[in-house]
Amino acid sequence: MSKKMESTIRYNFFNSFQELSAEDQQLVLQAQEACKTSYSPYSNFTVGSAVLLQDGTVVPGSNQENAAYPDGLCAERVALFAIGALHPGKTILKMAVAARRANTELFLEASPCGSCRQVMLEFEGRQEPPIEMIVRWGQEGYVKLHSVSDLLPFNFSKVNL
Ligand code: THU
Repeated sequence: MSKKMESTIRYNFFNSFQELSAEDQQLVLQAQEACKTSYSPYSNFTVGSAVLLQDGTVVPGSNQENAAYPDGLCAERVALFAIGALHPGKTILKMAVAARRANTELFLEASPCGSCRQVMLEFEGRQEPPIEMIVRWGQEGYVKLHSVSDLLPFNFSKVNL
């Protein structure tokens, strides 16, 4: 007999920037600023991320594309791998991400891709506190997750090895 299973994810949706905490607002602004360093001539899809460490350091990231398309890397992983290399062992508190079309001020509705979710989960598994996430959702909205694991239910991680 099969058993019907269910999995839900928890997140908050904010309808305006003002509703975010001051710290979250700051991080979102830094993610938006990071869009300016995006190298995305092939997609014109500009993504910026900003990751806040426990010691107050903010590490930005942006998507970096390549003529050999699959060799590019997303903004989220650029920031996280930089932390792995430059701030090893430091605890990550939260990360923000924002995406907009190149040469416009129009922010899009875009949540992290599957590969970035897997990498976020690996970083979360290396520390005690969960990693919070703020995703800019279009022009007005913001999605807030209290753990990146909520982005990847029923996942594969080191506990499965
Ligand atoms: N991209 C990101 O930077 N983050 C995501 O989570 C989704 C996609 C980038 C990759 C590529 O440079 C462009 O957006 C279009 O897919």
